[in-house]
Amino acid sequence: MRKPGGEWQAAEPGAGAKRAAAPAEDVAVAVALVPILDDNYVFVLHSSHQAVVIDPGIAAPVLSWLEQRQLELVAVLQTHHHQDHIGGTPELMRRWPGAAVVASRADQERIPFQTRSVAEGDDLELLGRRVEVLELPGHTRTHLAYLLPPVAGGQGELFCGDVLFAGGCGRLCEGTAEQMHRSLQRLAALPDATRVWCAHEYTLANLRWAASVADVRPAEQAAVAARLAEVKEQRHRGECTIPSTIGLERRSNLFLMAGDAGQLAARRLHKDQWKG
Ligand SMILES: [Fe+2]
Repeated sequence: MRKPGGEWQAAEPGAGAKRAAAPAEDVAVAVALVPILDDNYVFVLHSSHQAVVIDPGIAAPVLSWLEQRQLELVAVLQTHHHQDHIGGTPELMRRWPGAAVVASRADQERIPFQTRSVAEGDDLELLGRRVEVLELPGHTRTHLAYLLPPVAGGQGELFCGDVLFAGGCGRLCEGTAEQMHRSLQRLAALPDATRVWCAHEYTLANLRWAASVADVRPAEQAAVAARLAEVKEQRHRGECTIPSTIGLERRSNLFLMAGDAGQLAARRLHKDQWKG
C-alpha cells in the first residue's frame, strides 16, 4: 500500500524495461491516485507520455499532476454523473481539447460533454490496452465500470466508481437492491487478483460498520476483524487503502457476500442508519 499520490506499476512483468526501450510500442501502464475533495480519489492510468483520467471531480490537482509529468491527456473515463466524479472534466477538456470523454450512452443528458458514448460490452483501446465497459447499475440508474483484463499473467485493473467500495458498496441513490446485488455479483466473479480502484476512501468506516453487524458467520466475522485491524494501522500511518482486490472483497465485504438482494437491502439500510 502507498500513500496518496503514489504509483503502482500495472500488470506487466518487465514493463519498465520495455517502456524505456520502446516507447512507441509501449503497452506498459501505471496507475496513480490523486486525492481530491474530502475523500475522493481520481485515478490516472498512464504510460511514459500519455494519460487517461478516471472521474476527475475537480480539475486543478489533476491538471498540475499531469503537467508536472508532461503527460498528454488522451481520455477521461466517467463512471457516473455525480458532480464529485465529473466536475473537473470540462476544464481538462479546455486544456486538452483532443481528449475523448467516455461516458454512458444512457446518460447523455446528465453528462452532456461526453464525446464517446458507450454501453455494456463495448471495448476501448487506450494506451495500448484493451478496456472493457461494464454496466453496473445500483448506486445510480446508469453506472459504468472500466476493466483492464490482465496481460502477461499480471493483474486486472477495475475502475468501479461508487459501486463497490473497499469493505462496502455505494448507496442506492437511484437503483434497486436487486440491481446492486447483480452488479456486485458480476464483480465477485472476476479473478481474485483483480485490483479494485474505487473512488472513495471509506474503508475504515465500512469495516467498523461491518464489525458491528451481528448476522454474520464466524469465518466472515473473523475476516472483517482482521481486515479492520490492518486498515486501522494503515490509516494511522496516513496511508490510503486503495487498491483493494476482488479476492479480499469476496472474503471480507458484507455487501459482496450478501446471499441475495433482500440481505443486501437489509445491510444497506442498516449501514445507512448506522451512527458509528
Ligand atoms: Fe456517486
